[in-house]
Amino acid sequence: MANNEIILEAKNIYKSFSGVPVLQDVHFEVRKGEVHALMGENGAGKSTLIKIITGVYSKDAGSIWWEGKEVQVNSYADVQKLGIACIYQELSVEPPLTVAQNVFLGREPRKFGLIDHRKMIKDTEELIARYGFPLKADELVANLGIGLRQLVEILKGLSCDSKLLIMDEPTASLSGKEAESLFEIIEKLRDQGVSIIYISHRLEEVYRLSDRLTVLRNGQNAAVLNHEQIEPRLVIKTMIGKEVDESAGSAKEMRKNNNEVVLDVKNFSDEIGMFKDVSFQAHRGEILGFGGLIGAGRTELMRAIYGIDKHKSGTATLNGVELKYSPKESIKAGFGFVPEDRRNQGFIPLLSTVKNVALTNYDIVKKNGTSISDKDERDMGIRAIKQIDIRPDNPDKEVGLMSGGNQQKVVLGKWIQRDLKVLIVDEPTAGIDVGAKDQIYSILEDLASQGIVVIIVTSDLQELIRVSHRILVMRKGSIIKEFDSGIVTQSMVLEAGSGIVD
Ligand SMILES: Nc1ncnc2c1ncn2[C@@H]1O[C@H](COP(=O)(O)OP(=O)(O)OP(=O)(O)O)[C@@H](O)[C@H]1O
Ligand SMILES: [Mg+2]
Repeated sequence: MANNEIILEAKNIYKSFSGVPVLQDVHFEVRKGEVHALMGENGAGKSTLIKIITGVYSKDAGSIWWEGKEVQVNSYADVQKLGIACIYQELSVEPPLTVAQNVFLGREPRKFGLIDHRKMIKDTEELIARYGFPLKADELVANLGIGLRQLVEILKGLSCDSKLLIMDEPTASLSGKEAESLFEIIEKLRDQGVSIIYISHRLEEVYRLSDRLTVLRNGQNAAVLNHEQIEPRLVIKTMIGKEVDESAGSAKEMRKNNNEVVLDVKNFSDEIGMFKDVSFQAHRGEILGFGGLIGAGRTELMRAIYGIDKHKSGTATLNGVELKYSPKESIKAGFGFVPEDRRNQGFIPLLSTVKNVALTNYDIVKKNGTSISDKDERDMGIRAIKQIDIRPDNPDKEVGLMSGGNQQKVVLGKWIQRDLKVLIVDEPTAGIDVGAKDQIYSILEDLASQGIVVIIVTSDLQELIRVSHRILVMRKGSIIKEFDSGIVTQSMVLEAGSGIVD
């Protein structure tokens, strides 16, 4: 639908943080009615560019043009007035508020000077119905999982009837089904002449949706590709400067592992039926994958085994000893846990990489019972940075100021410093670029070859098949299928998870 009329143009943008250049002479333009993807490695500068366009960060040099005129944007309110809405990578929803209050936050409908709650609920219900989201207007966001919170954030963006909608990794926590309905919405909006800036590390989404694609590399323009040039190998090569085999993970032979059982879970159930009578065993050195749709109960099961949430009945033993179902005790027993919702549960934004790594590992740093040595602490942080290629490699940078993908690397980096027996990772590569994903997979394989049990929960089927030795599929709180031999394909897992076949 795109005609060639340019709606937004960012010209010669420069930005440094504490003297480190992050964007250099970047040019970026969006046409009316096009989906324009923005891609690049973790830390390439995508989110920073978006925050400059939307007035969250000031730029050091350059100019922003909207509908042919230069504009000064100093706040998000300024850009909203222009007709731009943005869904940021870090969700900005407020958990203590309802869905409706979040959607209308800061622009609540009023009657006689007071907030008109009834209208707010009604309008939100209309929006929910229009987009078919599985939400309720008066539900507290605090009660929603990360995937549904992301839908609230999206709804907020959609509610403004904007001319340009910016989405920074909108599908990072969505299931295939929810993502699919988002794509349909995007395609509809485009047909209505709305422009969309779309940031994602999921290549297949970008191939499907984008009319054009701008690639950033190290804060500079690497390429602008037209629709017919958007082809996997070229995109990856432009992004990371080398080729990555993207076909791995479409099918793989599963294998049983006859080593001794390390983790033995028996008849595990919770109060509300998120998981029911679940039993499984994990063997030394095994990468055990959990497949299934979002809401199948995988995250809840893992959280209960590790001890974040309570369970009602059943037992979990580690090398024959029953767990105490408290994170502190689980860590002592040899567990590591990379949560799905990393921003709230995975790290402390105001602390540096060194401090975040140290916090999880004080018991190791403190060996000999003496006081903690700064040097040991630092060495550990630096080791994590090297092992997992955290960028920038500045050990003192606040993790909250790092790019989304690099925050995720810190969360993984802190656990692999420990002598683990079991590592549970929930959506470990959400927001991680294609190059860095490979690195994370080889780290998981490495851990398994040292005898550690790795349990991976992921909605990315390619990832699930690629890394797992054996796969369990959950549906509605139960394990309904095991793949422990023979070739497994993505569609076999998908069919089992959706209940099409048993
Ligand atoms: N507020 C800030 N203070 C200091 N440095 C920052 C800040 N925001 C971003 N950076 C740095 O700017 C660089 C670009 O980060 P940005 O978040 O734009 O990357 P990105 O392309 O969005 O990556 P990702 O795919 O991981 O989300 C990174 O090195 C990051 O650490
Ligand atoms: Mg980003």
